[in-house]
Amino acid sequence: MLSLLQTVLLCAGSLISRSVVCPAGSLMGTYLAEQPGVPISIPVTSNCTGIKKIPDDDHPFIAPGPDDQRGPCPGLNTLANHGYLPRNGIVTFAQIVEAVGEGFNMEYDLAAALAAFAMLGRGNAYLDLVSIGGESPLIPPLPGFIDGHHAPYGISKHGRFEGDMSITRQDAAIGDNVNFQEDLYDELLLYTGKYGDDSPVTGNSSIVTLKVMQEFKYSRFLEDQVKNPVLEYHPGRFATSYGEAAFVLEFFANGTDGKLSVPAMGSFFRYQTFPQNFYRRPSPADIGVIGWTSHRIMIAHPLRPGANAPNGTYVPDIVPRSCDHVYYDLAVKNLPATLMTTTGLFRKNIDFLLNKTATPFDCPVIPPIGAPDI
Ligand code: HEM
Ligand SMILES: *[C@@H]1O[C@H](CO)[C@@H](O)[C@H](O)[C@H]1NC(C)=O
Ligand SMILES: *[C@@H]1O[C@H](CO)[C@@H](O)[C@H](O)[C@H]1NC(C)=O
Ligand SMILES: *[C@@H]1O[C@H](CO)[C@@H](O)[C@H](O)[C@H]1NC(C)=O
Ligand SMILES: *[C@@H]1O[C@H](CO)[C@@H](O)[C@H](O)[C@H]1NC(C)=O
Ligand SMILES: *[C@@H]1O[C@H](CO)[C@@H](O)[C@H](O)[C@H]1NC(C)=O
Repeated sequence: MLSLLQTVLLCAGSLISRSVVCPAGSLMGTYLAEQPGVPISIPVTSNCTGIKKIPDDDHPFIAPGPDDQRGPCPGLNTLANHGYLPRNGIVTFAQIVEAVGEGFNMEYDLAAALAAFAMLGRGNAYLDLVSIGGESPLIPPLPGFIDGHHAPYGISKHGRFEGDMSITRQDAAIGDNVNFQEDLYDELLLYTGKYGDDSPVTGNSSIVTLKVMQEFKYSRFLEDQVKNPVLEYHPGRFATSYGEAAFVLEFFANGTDGKLSVPAMGSFFRYQTFPQNFYRRPSPADIGVIGWTSHRIMIAHPLRPGANAPNGTYVPDIVPRSCDHVYYDLAVKNLPATLMTTTGLFRKNIDFLLNKTATPFDCPVIPPIGAPDI
């Protein structure tokens, strides 16, 4: 028996020649003819946004099975391993927003923007499903194949969301951009040993501080700039890369004292589980909090968005004028223009999500102009 995914791929291959159509009753035909769209559901968020012990008794750690999707985001992986997200890693917009709010106290508009961007760029907005890892047989191609004749790739796919200069994932051009990389994590530990604060509980130089992240991120840049001939660090990725460093300090820290110890950080990165006696932060972190921490990490060794030229030099971007260059680079240039060719429920979902990507930037929605099928 062919798996669902194999069938989809075989059909996709045959469609390259226009005259060949998938056999009647093929799974792809079934998807398009019979699978109705699903209106995006609105997240139900709790009024209680204070400190809280996480996980509760209803959310034990269970290691993922072989068919469960996991990917480049230690936050989402951890939430799925505890059942705050569906354990198979196939999730809806509302499930993401609710889970990151409950587990880490990520503020609604920031969470909604990230979830919407993931759904539009790497998921199926018609069915309100995205994989937190790679391609899944549970998520069929988009109606009309407006983003290629393949199943949506999931957030692991390099390009629109996943990018260069990660903390514990290698650049796609160099190595494994999806899974935890021990050698990169060792560098982070090295900088913690050098610049970390002391703790009577976890030991000297065991607290990950702003200074640790400032020095580590700069060293990663210097190293990557030389190692990756096709390094891309344009405004969208520049912002998410520093944003993810800020996530570590803001979301992985213990909510009781705002401190992040090496064992706790290792629990998230290495084992993708909440550390013992973890308390989520005592107030929601929005784009302002994350933006400010990102800026403080970057400004210790100021850098500009850019990319490597073929001769190996780093060439800073000339940043275009737009409402917000991060929003523009991330959500306008990076999402396929074909999203705007849709109608009906599919279009309603897309418009809802586009609105969410613009909201925390205080920008009006600018229709996407990116290439499909990348
Ligand atoms: C709200 C929905 C979220 C989405 C859609 C999302 C998606 C992603 C993606 C696609 C990446 C890979 C980017 C790359 O490094 O190339 C990533 C990385 C990362 N995410 Fe998330 N994320 C979300 C929420 C969170 C939360 C709540 C946390 C923290 C609690 C978090 C922590 C991180 C960290 C630390 C990284 C960098 C990993 C590394 O570089 O080693 N994320 N996320
Ligand atoms: C949140 O608070 C409002 C006003 O106090 C209340 O009407 C609403 O039911 C609460 N919602 C939840 C989910 O607790
Ligand atoms: C930690 O550092 C302090 C002061 O530098 C020192 O007195 C103490 O012995 C150190 N503790 C450990 C466990 O090494
Ligand atoms: C968080 O802080 C509380 C109170 O100090 C402590 O009991 C708990 O062990 C800490 N948890 C972690 C993960 O550091
Ligand atoms: C490398 O290429 C960039 C972009 O084309 C150019 O601006 C720069 O001057 C070149 N540098 C060297 C050393 O050739
Ligand atoms: C998003 O939708 C809300 C509700 O309809 C609206 O008030 C807001 O202006 C929209 N934001 C953008 C950026 O379009």
